[in-house]
Formats: sequence, structure tokens, C-alpha cells
Amino acid sequence: MIGRLNHVAIVVPNLAAARALYRDVLGAKVSEPVDLPAHGVTTVFVELANAKIELLHPLGEDSPVAAFLERNPAGGMHHVCFEVDDIRAARDRLADQSVRVLGDGEPRIGAHDKPVLFLDPKDFCGTLIELEQA
Ligand code: CO
Repeated sequence: MIGRLNHVAIVVPNLAAARALYRDVLGAKVSEPVDLPAHGVTTVFVELANAKIELLHPLGEDSPVAAFLERNPAGGMHHVCFEVDDIRAARDRLADQSVRVLGDGEPRIGAHDKPVLFLDPKDFCGTLIELEQA
């Protein structure tokens, strides 16, 4: 069922500093910051050969990552995203195995304009898992 690792998302307190760190210290290819108001984040994409790193910073009043940054002021890993071929089939298979999907269980359009679901970290070793239809 599970496909490629699509991205690892890291919440950062200072997006410009984090962008410079990945670009200058690691020599990575990084995007300009992109505001995603519908998702409540500003993001920088770090392009690796086999996956992406997404640096996330809260945007607006109701950002889904604001509370995370309050709990983790230095930043930290927020979620990992795996690709699946058929997101509804993946959801149904997970439900059969008692893995909880966050929200109402219906896929939403994610930051890459593809359907995504998030799995309850309590059912996945304390890690927030995003599934994205490839
Ligand atoms: Co993501």
C-alpha cells in the first residue's frame, strides 16, 4: 500500500534562518517562502534527490502549527508524508486495522493540490503521518 516518502515537515521558529541553514550549511536547493493561507502556513520546500523537506511556519490566526511551535519553541519534526496510489482505499484498509484518521475521514486537498489524510499519532508511535495520493 505505502509508496515513496514524499516529504518530512519541520516546524521552525524563523523561516529565513532555517532556509539559510539548509541552503548554506547543507548546500540544498531551497524555494522562496510560499504563503499557503488555506493551510495556515508559510512553507519553504527543500528539494532533495529522493524526497522533500518542508519547513513550516505559522501563518494567520488559526494556524495548525502554532500550538506545536508553542510546545516546541526551537522547532521540530511535525509529520512525515507517504504516497499512496488510492487514498480512499488506503483509508478503508487503515480503518479495518483500527488506525484512526484525523478529522471526518474525508481526504482534503493538501499543500501540493493532491488529496491527503492525516493519521492519529496515537496509532503511529507518536508520529503524525500524512498520506498523499500520488
Ligand atoms: Co505535509
